[in-house]
Amino acid sequence: MDNMNEYLINFKGYNFEKALANIEDLEKMEDFEIRDDDVFIITYPKSGTIWTQQILSLIYYEGHRNNTENISTIDRAPFLEYNIYNLDYAKMSSPRIFTSHLPYYLVPKGLKEKKAKILYIYRNPKDVLISFFHFSNWVVTLEATDTIDHYLEKFLDGKVVGSRWFDHIRGWYEHRHDFNIMFLSYEDLKKDLRSSVLKICSFLKKELSEEDVDAVVRQATFQNMKYDPLANYHYIVNNKVGARKKDGCFLRKGTIGDWKNHLTVEQNERFDMIFKSNMKNFPLKFIWDINEQ
Ligand code: A3P
Repeated sequence: MDNMNEYLINFKGYNFEKALANIEDLEKMEDFEIRDDDVFIITYPKSGTIWTQQILSLIYYEGHRNNTENISTIDRAPFLEYNIYNLDYAKMSSPRIFTSHLPYYLVPKGLKEKKAKILYIYRNPKDVLISFFHFSNWVVTLEATDTIDHYLEKFLDGKVVGSRWFDHIRGWYEHRHDFNIMFLSYEDLKKDLRSSVLKICSFLKKELSEEDVDAVVRQATFQNMKYDPLANYHYIVNNKVGARKKDGCFLRKGTIGDWKNHLTVEQNERFDMIFKSNMKNFPLKFIWDINEQ
């Protein structure tokens, strides 16, 4: 364990959010008991976590689809490594949905039995970078950075929560045969939410009626989530985490290619060079532009 700075704590080579992490919980993580019907959403930060939490919650809970339950997204799919409400995860009813930013080598060993399902959502890393930059300047639990130039260096060096993006996705992909895992991109969700929801349902072996699929899609759009306090972490940011300024939101732009509005030509070239050298022969496809097919 290494206290890297006021905001980060490094445990077994991976950076956690210091304000939310509990070392005793992390020590026990490997042995956390997995049930066959558990479902895990795994992401690198800012890759569509909250969106996937909302989609899975809508798929699993009828009361969420028809608005008869009043439970926030984070409570339906809590973070495994940040048990901020001190819930007893062993007492949660099945099927449990968990969320996690953990790297492949720190997740509970029981996932290797390949019964429980993992949905890994990834996003083009330039948009992750920009989203992360804004988010870190907004919430008090993350280190603020004055310029994108400085943030770019931190991100590329992995001096952020989640460590290096390249290691996270490569690690999970290269060890995919050890797990029951499906990879899906943020951009897939964005470009065709309905067919992505159907893909997710098929992976989870959940059969929903056409009407129910419509209800999931309707309530998982950016606009609907942005103005739904249960879906946009409104409560948690204002009460548990804390925001530096009032006018922020977890759901910021929600698009593909916002990096083009922020990165200079030089920064972009530097990113491309590092991306190329780190992602050689990596088969998953990244979509960098909203108009790209
Ligand atoms: P931006 O900052 O680019 O807007 P995470 O939940 O992993 O922290 O990711 C947050 C990012 O996902 C934010 O990106 C947020 O706007 C985006 N997001 C959340 N819900 C979304 C939705 N329904 N549609 C599109 N983007 C969404």
